[in-house]
Amino acid sequence: MTTTSTPNISAVTGLPHWETIPEDIPAAVREIKAALREKISASGRTVAEVVAEVEEFLAGEVADIAATRARGEEVWPVIDFTDIAAGTVSPDALALLKRRGCAVVRGHFDRAQAEQWDADIVEYVDSNHFFESYAGPADDFFGDLEMSKPEIYPIYWSSAQMEARQHPRMAQVQAFLNAQWTHESEGRSWFDPGQDTLYPDRIRRRPPGADSGGLGTHLDPGTLDLWMTEGYQQHFRHLFRGDFASYDPWDAAYRTEAAQYPGSTMCSAFRTFQGWTALSEMRNDQGVLHTVPIPKAMAYLMLRPLLDDVDEDSMCGVKPNRTFPATKKWHRILMDAVSAIPSVQPGDSVWWHCDMVHSVAPVKNQQGWGNVMYIPAAPRCAKNERYTESVRQAFLAGASPSDFPEENYEADWPNRFTEADLNDIGRRGLNLL
Ligand SMILES: [Fe+2]
Repeated sequence: MTTTSTPNISAVTGLPHWETIPEDIPAAVREIKAALREKISASGRTVAEVVAEVEEFLAGEVADIAATRARGEEVWPVIDFTDIAAGTVSPDALALLKRRGCAVVRGHFDRAQAEQWDADIVEYVDSNHFFESYAGPADDFFGDLEMSKPEIYPIYWSSAQMEARQHPRMAQVQAFLNAQWTHESEGRSWFDPGQDTLYPDRIRRRPPGADSGGLGTHLDPGTLDLWMTEGYQQHFRHLFRGDFASYDPWDAAYRTEAAQYPGSTMCSAFRTFQGWTALSEMRNDQGVLHTVPIPKAMAYLMLRPLLDDVDEDSMCGVKPNRTFPATKKWHRILMDAVSAIPSVQPGDSVWWHCDMVHSVAPVKNQQGWGNVMYIPAAPRCAKNERYTESVRQAFLAGASPSDFPEENYEADWPNRFTEADLNDIGRRGLNLL
């Protein structure tokens, strides 16, 4: 029989915290919920009153999104790469980026460049007989569809991907996006907005005619650790005091040090924005990415489980090693805000705040290709430096990065991108200078 370990009470937050997954999860959920309710009540307001304030704010944002859509305008901000490069993004565009928490960067790369990368990827996998050796999906992150040919290729080290990751234009856009965050606060410096760590991820190539079930609305930053580890409790310190007005989703405080619970869907890096670069044209009704473009909605996701209509040992369906769901049942107010990206061209890139609810729409008989390289913005910080150690080893060996299943298809591929192909941005990003 296992004994339930007594959690430590944090001297900083006054909350019980579990730096590793609690042995008795239901008991820990009951305990943290009680402690959070008590802490919020100490502010002089009940949890229900604080959640009502969040809902009022959300209703205003949802109405603005609906009005934008009704005017026939794009909900997602669209920013030209040339303005980022010239430093001429208007104050209005910057304000909208902060408000919506997502953006398309138009012309991030030349169309011809993106199409060349797409062709290079085909040549890379074909020349190495990838489809003959492909053993099927090694994780269930994207559902358990039986596919002989994957849509998500567990490929990390093609020249195309590395050229894009270390491209000066990528570094410019990442620095611009990182700068939307507050990287110094609480008397500390949390990350370096000017230096990215080249977080390696996979590619997606979805062929014309494809049927895809899509992915439901979910979040990627974590699971129960968001409530239960001391670092995240500090990150969400304002919310956990019932102070929604002070909660700033752009303040990185403490989260570049927070402990995370392991799981197959975990991202070991701190990403200011998740992102991908389009390698094909994608019309916005062809199974594309959607977000709930309200960064402060995270407050609702964090506080909603504390209301009385949720079982005492439930966090609205959030469990370790599972994707964090956003659902009609618990988060109805957010669902009318779900907004598609604008249609994109090869070379455009798409970005969304790491805490934002997102989904991928289903599609039947897709028109055209749906090809992307997943490249986020992951600035240098304590957390990303640690992960970079394992990334560098994986890069040198041609292995799968440690956040992903150990498939290692590329280890013997002679034409993968090598250390000699790195430029200064690449060497700095991988700590190989
Ligand atoms: Fe996701």
